[in-house]
Formats: sequence, structure tokens, C-alpha cells
Amino acid sequence: MLLAGGLLLAGPGAASADTSADAPEGPDCSVDKCIALTFDDGPGAYTDLLLDTLNEHEAAATFYVLGSKVADNTGTLQRMSAEGHEIGNHTWDHQDLTELSSQEIQSELQRTDQAITRATGEEPGTVRPPYGALDQTVRQSVNQPMLLWDVDTRDWESLDSAQVTDAAVQEAAEGSVLLFHDIHASTVEAIPGVLQELEKDGYEFVTVEQLFDGHSMESGSAYSNARGPFTEDPAPQTGAPAPRTEEPTAQAEDTAPNLQEPRPRPEGPAPQTQTEAPVR
Ligand code: NI
Repeated sequence: MLLAGGLLLAGPGAASADTSADAPEGPDCSVDKCIALTFDDGPGAYTDLLLDTLNEHEAAATFYVLGSKVADNTGTLQRMSAEGHEIGNHTWDHQDLTELSSQEIQSELQRTDQAITRATGEEPGTVRPPYGALDQTVRQSVNQPMLLWDVDTRDWESLDSAQVTDAAVQEAAEGSVLLFHDIHASTVEAIPGVLQELEKDGYEFVTVEQLFDGHSMESGSAYSNARGPFTEDPAPQTGAPAPRTEEPTAQAEDTAPNLQEPRPRPEGPAPQTQTEAPVR
């Protein structure tokens, strides 16, 4: 499929002399206003439609996939990879990692890394812990940086495209990581509007790896955006638990995890039965 540079350069009879290696490679986040859209819990029945939309806008994204869904969606993962998107590890079956032993955590992540690597030939660079839930055991058991988010569209809760768009557009800032779930039709339907509005605001859509390019990310540390000063998210509390906030965010670590997002459950058609596309 076409990549951003290819779209710009392709064309019948285009002067081939200019299509050489020094073509621009896309956004430079040290100069451009970059943002990372992230999609969790898939792939699902609507993911290929989402990839079409991202292509139309030459937008890159990051997909935190479940290892258990990889085998049935190998073609979709290969398409993500071929079209310039990033694939991250969201565990095998959406376990709350704070409820698991170190060995169980490593098993969840390794199985998923292996499935993704088998499908795409590339190993994921980051982990997104389900519910944003992590504690000291998780930190010590994860061999990759953990990527949280600073803009939670709560798309799973509203299931309303207009609300998803509003949340994304109003809360996004340079260096933000936005959280969506591509298993919901309402979310995938919201993305054209999200892209249009944020394009008007001058944003470039990049992968997590591109967003954090130039910053060192440490294994077992958690990050929620790429704004400086570039430090890890709040260290785990050793004493009393952090005060509960009205609106839980990714930064409110170690709070009740199921306030972050629901456990995965069958929603919409299963991947095997994707016979028709959601309305657009
Ligand atoms: Ni999730």
C-alpha cells in the first residue's frame, strides 16, 4: 500500500529523477506539532476501515493489540506494519497485570510479543498495561517501556462519535498520546472528524516511537506524553494509595483498575464475521 511519501511522489510520468532517496520522510517532531493516536484492544471488525481512513489522511497511528487476537487477524497486522503504523503489546488477553505474579506478567507479554513478531517480523517496542494498571511488580517484570496516555476519550463509555471527537479535539496538546479503542464502530466513525479537526489545528499524526524519538525511554518505566521536562510518570507510591480522583486518569496509578476502561467483552461482530462495514 501507499505510504505518505509515495502518495506525494507517485504519478503517471512523474519525473523519476526526483523520486530518489532524499524525499521527505514525514513529520519531524523536533519541529512539527506532533501527536500520537493509539488504538487498544483490537484488531476488530472495524480496524481495516480505520486503516483506510488513516491512509486517506496520511496519518500514522499505534495499535496496542491483544496477543490472543493476532492469529485471526494476521493480514490486518501485516497491513498496519506495511502502512507505517506501529504495533504495541497490550497483553495476551487483557489481564490486570497488578493481579498477576511476575512470571505470569512475563508470560502474558512474551506470548504476545512472539505472536506479533511471527505475524509482522517486528517486535513491539512498548507495552500498554490494561486499565493503565501498574505497580512495582509490574515495573520490575516488564522489559519494555510502558506507554500510558494523557488524553482519554472514554470512547468505550460514550459509544458516541461526536463525544469522542470533542474529547480528542478539546484535550489534545502537542506531544499528547490519545487513547481510543478500535473495537467500537462509534470510535472508527469518529476518526475522520478527529483527523480533520486536528489537522486544522496544525497537528501531525505520528507513531509512539516517532513521538518519543530522541528521548530515552526506560524499560519498566511508564510515560503518558512526550512533553518536557521528559521524566517518567509519577513514581509508585510507597505509602498510602494516591487519593482517588473523580475522573480517573492514566496518571492515577494503582487506583481501581476497572475505572480506566472496561474489561474486554464481545462487542459487535467477531472478527471472523466481518461481512459488512459500519456506516460512514
Ligand atoms: Ni485495553
